[in-house]
Amino acid sequence: MVSYRALFGTMVPLALALLLIGSTEAQLEYGFYKNSCPHAEFIVFQEMTKIIANAPFLTGPFLRMQYHDCFVNGCDASLLLNSTNNNPAEKDAPPNQSLRGFDAIDDIKAKLEMACPGIVSCADILAMIARDSVKLTYGPYYAIETGRRDGSRSEASDTQANLQPPTSNITVLKNIFIQKGLTAKDLAVLTGAHTIGQSLCSSFTERLYNFTGRGFGLDPALDPTYVPQLMCECKPNDNTTRVEMDPGSSRNFDLAYYKGVSRGRGLFTSDDQLLHDPETKAYVERQAMAWPEEFFKDFAESMVKMGRIEVLTHGKGEIRKKCAFVN
Ligand code: HEM
Repeated sequence: MVSYRALFGTMVPLALALLLIGSTEAQLEYGFYKNSCPHAEFIVFQEMTKIIANAPFLTGPFLRMQYHDCFVNGCDASLLLNSTNNNPAEKDAPPNQSLRGFDAIDDIKAKLEMACPGIVSCADILAMIARDSVKLTYGPYYAIETGRRDGSRSEASDTQANLQPPTSNITVLKNIFIQKGLTAKDLAVLTGAHTIGQSLCSSFTERLYNFTGRGFGLDPALDPTYVPQLMCECKPNDNTTRVEMDPGSSRNFDLAYYKGVSRGRGLFTSDDQLLHDPETKAYVERQAMAWPEEFFKDFAESMVKMGRIEVLTHGKGEIRKKCAFVN
């Protein structure tokens, strides 16, 4: 008969070893490509500088993409995969239909494949272009961890439970962040990304014309002096016009978003809802009056944290040759 001691004498070290392997596997590294593709981050930044000089509006979708990728089954570039005949992919799900710039990502990947074939993952490219978009809009330049590998599953239906709509209340928003290992502070910090970029009118016109859900009504949380401008830019049922989310400053990564939210000028209910929780409210109100250093530092930290969600590393997943297709 096998004794307890004999059995657990081997199981404990085994369990410890598995725990250690598990914790190593979950880890990304700063400078993962320093030997295998030393210029990877520079190549991406150089391409990004050219792309953004020609199409400055792409900084918004490029920053948003990392959030939309990481929250749906982890940071594995599943967002970049194309739909197939029998499988609508994440890219074609409603929250992702307004993203732009996928061709530019293909060009960046092609440059990296020329320099270092089969080395740099599409998931890491998403982290790099999000970071570079912040830098190119005069925000902080922060170091990012790399070493993610690319996933193979991308299903449009996975987006629904993971990307909350702009009508969400603070409880729903906090819950989804907590589910992803993030905090209420990360929510207040990362939503600060709305300091850059544009929104389709259709993402918020309910607040202007149909707040009751019965075909009429204005959201009383909106600053009444801001409403005429929004109504002028966005007529009811307009599905194509885009407006600056942070008017006058939407190409500057700065604190104007927090100033706006604190005055009832957040574009979405989800922005306004930051004022409905003591911790997120205190953050918004502090940043509305602050110098940008604290927000810049917080944003860098929260982005690095978000970039760790359910990553594939150490032989799991693959390095795609083209970001839109599995190998
Ligand atoms: C907390 C929940 C969030 C909600 C409900 C939300 C919702 C939205 C919506 C509805 C839009 C407009 C999309 C359109 O009509 O084109 C948008 C844009 C944007 N979001 Fe968020 N967002 C959230 C969090 C985040 C986070 C965490 C980030 C990044 C860290 C982010 C970055 C952006 C950016 C940069 C844009 C501008 C996109 C563009 O210029 O096309 N958002 N968001």
